[in-house]
Amino acid sequence: MQIITTIREMRKLRGTMSGSIGFIPTMGYLHEGHLSLVEQAKKENEHVVVSIFVNPKQFGPNEDFSRYPRDEQRDTELLKKAGVDVLFLPTVDEIYPEGFDTYVIVENISQVLEGEKRPGHFKGVATVVTKLFNIIQPDNAYFGQKDAQQVSVMKKMVTDLQFPIKIVVGITIREPNGLAKSSRNVYLTESEQKEAAVLFRSLQLALEKFQKGEKDSIKIKKEMKKLIQTTSGSIDYISIVDPETLKELDIIKKDTLISLAVYFGKTRLIDNIILH
Ligand code: PAF
Repeated sequence: MQIITTIREMRKLRGTMSGSIGFIPTMGYLHEGHLSLVEQAKKENEHVVVSIFVNPKQFGPNEDFSRYPRDEQRDTELLKKAGVDVLFLPTVDEIYPEGFDTYVIVENISQVLEGEKRPGHFKGVATVVTKLFNIIQPDNAYFGQKDAQQVSVMKKMVTDLQFPIKIVVGITIREPNGLAKSSRNVYLTESEQKEAAVLFRSLQLALEKFQKGEKDSIKIKKEMKKLIQTTSGSIDYISIVDPETLKELDIIKKDTLISLAVYFGKTRLIDNIILH
């Protein structure tokens, strides 16, 4: 595996690579969710490039940028073992040199749900991913379904800006109790990890109700809320939306996205399900 830290070197290497390139952008502290994207990318491309960059521009001033978990050595070993061809590992100054002043904003769908709760978050994500797409020029880019809104924003961005890149979505990988794998799970205490499985259970409950014929989103949200309130979790939001427009739906239909954010202590967890 080649480890590249500068944009100049990455571009030079990209110029020598022929055949399809699968790209997985990450912020490191890798888990099985990332590795399953790598596995999928390996099957579907001739080369696999992974980036690790904890992007300061997608964290709010009171968020966890400085304490976001990092372990470059472990990540490098995992990616080598997984058969990744290139690891792009730039510094913050490399991506945002002094005077950097250009941003990518995906209007509307970036302003609801996570975007409403975390102002500026998707501006940071869209900007860094645009830069990474320009540097790496992949054919396929892999994102996890766990960040459902990020997937919607990425799809809209590549469509609107005509990136010749396919956005491929990997399934959410879960702990045995249903808790979605996330680098931030490391913040949870043992008892919080157990309790946090309620996010998944509430989504399963919603699915069950939907399959039994319930279509009223207020009633479904009420049931989910009731279940979550049996734990110490504090609900930030539960939303039931169209997965493309992210507009709230009163009546649930097929392929509706249910997503939620819940705090356990100071840790904010998100999860979602698409009703099929
Ligand atoms: O999902 C993430 O880890 C980040 O938002 C991403 C896509 C790597 C951009 O920094």
